[in-house]
Amino acid sequence: MTRDVALEAEVQRIGRALAQRFPSPARHPLRALDQRAMRLASEDEQIRAALFRLVDVTPATHSVDDLARHLIGYLEEISERPPSLDTALKISDTAPGRAALGTATTAAVRHMAHRFIVGESPSAALADIAALWRHGIAVSVDLLGEATVTPDEADRYAERCHDALETLAEAAGRWPERRWLERDSAGPVPRVNLSVKVTALTPLMRPQAPHLGRDDAAGRMRPLLRRARELDAHLHVDMESLDSLETTIELVLGLLAEPEFRRGPSAGVVVQAYLRDSPAQLDRLLEWAAATERGSPLVVRLVKGAYWDQEVIEARQHGWRPPVFERKSECDRNFELLTRRLLDARPLVRVKVGSHNLRSVAHAIAYSRLGGGADADLELQVLRGLGDELAEALRAERLRVRSYCPVGDLVAGMAYLVRRLLENTSNDSFLRAHAHGAPVEELLAAP
Ligand code: 2OP
Repeated sequence: MTRDVALEAEVQRIGRALAQRFPSPARHPLRALDQRAMRLASEDEQIRAALFRLVDVTPATHSVDDLARHLIGYLEEISERPPSLDTALKISDTAPGRAALGTATTAAVRHMAHRFIVGESPSAALADIAALWRHGIAVSVDLLGEATVTPDEADRYAERCHDALETLAEAAGRWPERRWLERDSAGPVPRVNLSVKVTALTPLMRPQAPHLGRDDAAGRMRPLLRRARELDAHLHVDMESLDSLETTIELVLGLLAEPEFRRGPSAGVVVQAYLRDSPAQLDRLLEWAAATERGSPLVVRLVKGAYWDQEVIEARQHGWRPPVFERKSECDRNFELLTRRLLDARPLVRVKVGSHNLRSVAHAIAYSRLGGGADADLELQVLRGLGDELAEALRAERLRVRSYCPVGDLVAGMAYLVRRLLENTSNDSFLRAHAHGAPVEELLAAP
């Protein structure tokens, strides 16, 4: 058997084993979650747009009447309304009707948000996080909030990060041992893992003047790195939209190369496979890792990327070619290519693969095993509320899986929520295909 054939056979074998552990499509979380709104939204562009505007505006509304008026405005713009939305519009002719509509809408948005957000604060989320750990699933906490506009806001975000590190570290000391979650060939893997967003750490993010944002964020990031090192926690810097990519990379690589941080903490960055330039970005990270001696290897989390709609819209507005792959198959192929390159680069880097796509995940596991890698040297990541079933299947196979758990309130979480809805109502969504009962051969087919 050639290597490619062997790899493909292993991908199929692992993919099927994982799929068997999935609940049936009828019980799929997206079905349970969305029901009508999501279904309508995936079938009609205008409804989809209205739903997002609504979700976005909900936390900022002053009253249920106010919210209902927003909703009405959005609904009126839809040219061919299905009967259920027409009924909603008719109800809203009267004040009591609007109150009922507004109340129902707020409840629906909160209900939806609750799936993705573990708690309003790290301490409120602790019980859930500890339960996941005991069960065999690790967590990365993400403090909701991004795109700050004032220095005060950025200071508050940094403070919340410090608080999260302390709260988590204090609690993590009491968690039971879970060997496959806390050790790989390079040594101990920190129990505490915090994801941070650079646009939350500085209000000065400007693509035209990257040094401003970089220096300002560095001022808030250094104390965080120090604290993470003292508490033996891992800090992961998320990647956001393309306009902050260069600043983010420069910031992180610059800080981690400073003498003070040579010995720690464990830290990581993200590569977004939907970017056409991502292979070159990975080259740069690997070159840096090879040239920079640090106590713990750079962690690279490979994801597809969550800002697809934003990147495409922005590029089109400027008449540019979108920086992202526009066909799912191209993006999936690139994801597999980058997965292989990253896994081959071990032990220079620690590898985390974040995807809900069964094929992409099975491919990573298969490639790692065929190359003789230990399962402990590959981490899989999912998003809370979307990848819970996949996480469960991976855990059952004793693979190291980490759930990305947002913490914060609904207002701070809106942008995050909208990204999740966009991904999962898109026709290309793996989860959507699974929820609609696509056969496993189709789900596991090579891109
Ligand atoms: C996001 O915030 C998960 O970092 C990703 O959309």
